Amino acid sequence: IDIKTLRGVTGGLTTIDPGYKNTGSCESAITFLNGEEGILRYRGYSIEDLAEKASFLETAYLLIFGELPTKEQFEKFHTDIKSHSHVDEDIKKILDGFPKSAHPMGVLSSLTNALIAFNPSSVNVDSEEEMYNAIVKILGKFPVLTAWAYRKRVGKPLDYGDDSLGYVENFLKMMFKKPNGEYNASSTVVEALDKLLILHADHEQNCSTSTVRIVGSSHAGLFASISAGINALWGPLHGGANQAVIEMLEAIKEDGGDTHKFMEKAKDKEDPFRLMGFGHRVYKNFDPRAKIIKKSADDVLGALGIEDPVLDIAKGLEKEALEDSYFVDRKLYPNVDFYSGIIYRALGIPTEMFTAMFALGRLPGWIAQWREMRLRKEPIGRPRQVYIGENHREFKAVNER
Ligand code: ACO
Repeated sequence: IDIKTLRGVTGGLTTIDPGYKNTGSCESAITFLNGEEGILRYRGYSIEDLAEKASFLETAYLLIFGELPTKEQFEKFHTDIKSHSHVDEDIKKILDGFPKSAHPMGVLSSLTNALIAFNPSSVNVDSEEEMYNAIVKILGKFPVLTAWAYRKRVGKPLDYGDDSLGYVENFLKMMFKKPNGEYNASSTVVEALDKLLILHADHEQNCSTSTVRIVGSSHAGLFASISAGINALWGPLHGGANQAVIEMLEAIKEDGGDTHKFMEKAKDKEDPFRLMGFGHRVYKNFDPRAKIIKKSADDVLGALGIEDPVLDIAKGLEKEALEDSYFVDRKLYPNVDFYSGIIYRALGIPTEMFTAMFALGRLPGWIAQWREMRLRKEPIGRPRQVYIGENHREFKAVNER
């Protein structure tokens, strides 16, 4: 049966597939993932090649529009993004309403949603041009919101970046510039963050991306869909794992460094503790992103002259897990989040911002998937269920119950 026919079929057999482990929700031409062989490609280009040779913004263009940009296309794209990199000053008032202790992910999803009020034209996107405008707006404003969420937390003045810089360097400057406006990121730092963002840029129908597509399928608009995706990403079983990994590695260090004890705890079915940064729904051999990030962690820490004892703990855990039948039998390997936090930390990014960094990286993927869904005129996402509740019951008034 072709997909068009399938779209018209309702009311027949309902399959049940908890966690959608074996359900394809859409056809997609964006990201190819082979979990058995550890292959990941964006629009046909291997993740290894892109991480090595492309820039994050080039990768964003590729994901969203399907081709690597020419020089002219790239320049126009970047210029359009920069021309939308200011957010309404009133957004600052909303930000001010949050306590300093608010988690950046909650702040980011709220502010992304709030952007709709200031950019109402971003909601009705019936033409490709309207879609494009909404896309460059969110790509321009999101790094500002991310940097502001951080600066609010640490009590620093909110500011904009420097249009003359590249997308990633400009973001770093917005995060870390001093009151006198100074911030010079070393090329090691800029390149390392660029690479991390590329590695996080898309991953087909994961939890947050499926959320973006399903919210967008009601035609709720790009910003509302992205805001929903941020919330989905926040959870510790998904993007929130990068923060949880560092907290776990720190806890192991504080406890004296006994990795075995934590491995046993993760295996204990009575204990809810899981080895954070291990396991993946699709990768059952290795996560190619984790391989690249592990090497990058060594390179970046070396280049910056940083010795982080938790890197050794992480490597120790990985080695032990590779020899442990519990982890081997269940095909649990380090995922993208296992080593990323160690690099973020070396770049000066605080732990509570790790998942927000993931969101910044995943933004192009969410956009690409949302755009594909709209261009293909996909129907509203609406799964069925198998009802297991009470049968018909007679209503009793409250004094008769
Ligand atoms: N530590 C210990 N045991 C684990 C772990 C882990 N990290 N992950 C899975 N298991 C065990 C489960 O307890 C289960 O065991 P059982 O068969 O004896 O009941 C088995 O492995 C299968 O696990 P599921 O939860 O069914 O696998 P699922 O595909 O649903 O979950 C997930 C994948 C959520 C990534 C899981 O491996 C996990 O919780 N990992 C830790 C959190 C994490 O790192 N998340 C980031 C994922 S990557 C990303 O989202 C960017």
